[in-house]
Amino acid sequence: KFPALRGAAVVAGLSVLVGAQPALASPEGHGRYSAGAPGVGDSYFPDAGNGGLDVQHYDVGFSYDPATRYMDASTTLTAVATQDLDQFDLDFRGPQISSLTVGKHPASFRRDGQELVVTPRPKLKTGERFTVTVKYAGTPPVITDPDESIEGWVPTDDGVFVPGEPQGSPAWLPGNDHPTDKATFTFRATVPEGLTAVGNGQLLSQKTSNGRTTFVWDSTEPMATYLATVTIGNFQVTQTRTPSGIPVYTAVDPRLAAQSAAAVARIPDMIEYFSSLFGPYPFASAGAIIDRAPNVGYALESQTKPIFSSAPGLGTMAHEIAHQWYGDSVSLSRWSDIWLNEGFATYAQWLWTEHNGGATTQQTFDGASNYGRAATSSFWQIVATDPGTVDMFGNVPYNRGAMTLHALRGKIGDAAFFRLLKDWAATHKYGNTTTAEFVAQAQRVSGKDLKGFFDVWLYQKGKPTAW
Ligand code: ARG
Ligand code: ZN
Repeated sequence: KFPALRGAAVVAGLSVLVGAQPALASPEGHGRYSAGAPGVGDSYFPDAGNGGLDVQHYDVGFSYDPATRYMDASTTLTAVATQDLDQFDLDFRGPQISSLTVGKHPASFRRDGQELVVTPRPKLKTGERFTVTVKYAGTPPVITDPDESIEGWVPTDDGVFVPGEPQGSPAWLPGNDHPTDKATFTFRATVPEGLTAVGNGQLLSQKTSNGRTTFVWDSTEPMATYLATVTIGNFQVTQTRTPSGIPVYTAVDPRLAAQSAAAVARIPDMIEYFSSLFGPYPFASAGAIIDRAPNVGYALESQTKPIFSSAPGLGTMAHEIAHQWYGDSVSLSRWSDIWLNEGFATYAQWLWTEHNGGATTQQTFDGASNYGRAATSSFWQIVATDPGTVDMFGNVPYNRGAMTLHALRGKIGDAAFFRLLKDWAATHKYGNTTTAEFVAQAQRVSGKDLKGFFDVWLYQKGKPTAW
């Protein structure tokens, strides 16, 4: 490999000398074509997302049979070029691709790890809107995370459980897998009659013929790819509405119906309560998918349809519902800021518990200090704004994050604190933000200098003693 690289470098150098590099720019200013970057520069997941294109919509169509674990899929994404492109990447870890077209034109492609490298011809100009259709078939993979948990396409005894945080969606759909590129989605899933395929958003249609049922789901507000799901199984479906009219679709594995009934029954109340604290529920529909996936062992805030791998209690249900505001609508810009998702959802869970007649937030805060009763405990040795990929779903983003919010509430008072929570949800609705922006907004809303406060809680190791 070395001689080839060296040769290319020499040729490039020579071309400068002899002025043979000319045609990079045409008179119209177009023609500076280059390859889109293979990642968006997230230090936790360097391959996640891609440069040079902004996906607007995904149309994900497939048939899947749990008995054979065989998927036959065609996904079309609509994107806009953000630079003149002679090549771009998508993230994809799914099964074998049989064809790929850009617009009407077949494009050549190759696969390199999670990168699907596409060479569009004709090339794409900045601002150009284009479609990419990828046809693929086979068994999508289970993906193992840095913390050893699994995600992606996880078979269950009657279907498949589909969580995608932080890097699972490329298991079953090609795309830009980073929260900074949100898009709308349509899912068309065909499964054996008797099974239910539950996707994000609203159910547009459900039609059975020849022993197979096709479910079409429409996710109409911008969504990060990691929040996409089409979870399939034998489900009891219930449809209701919140008091203010938001449709709620719940799909429950009948074996878990009794154990999860209490949490499911309170979904409308939770949405009403959180709406009163955080502002209007951000999406056109709500719901939950309660499935049996014992090897997963966690729940995920999939947009409009949080997914649970076992029967949830009230706390977990409240946590995933609260994520719809914080995490799903208001999203992080880089994974190291995961406390913006988990700290907020955990604090919302504390608020719900108190509202529901349980421990007060102060009691829960005091209890959470037990994760690090001793200031020397390892709990205090992880920096909340940089937990690393192994601990990003560990105690610190959740509990130190929630403790930070409770301490902030004490520091700026209830009026400013709850104004800030609403403001945060409103200002960054459907957007992406950062910890620095939260610090700035907290200072604006409260009129206080909070640099020292946030430094101690979020940017330093150690157990805060005074703040
Ligand atoms: N965001 C999810 C929750 O708090 C947890 C996701 C965990 N994912 C993982 N790969 N460990 O509810
Ligand atoms: Zn969470």
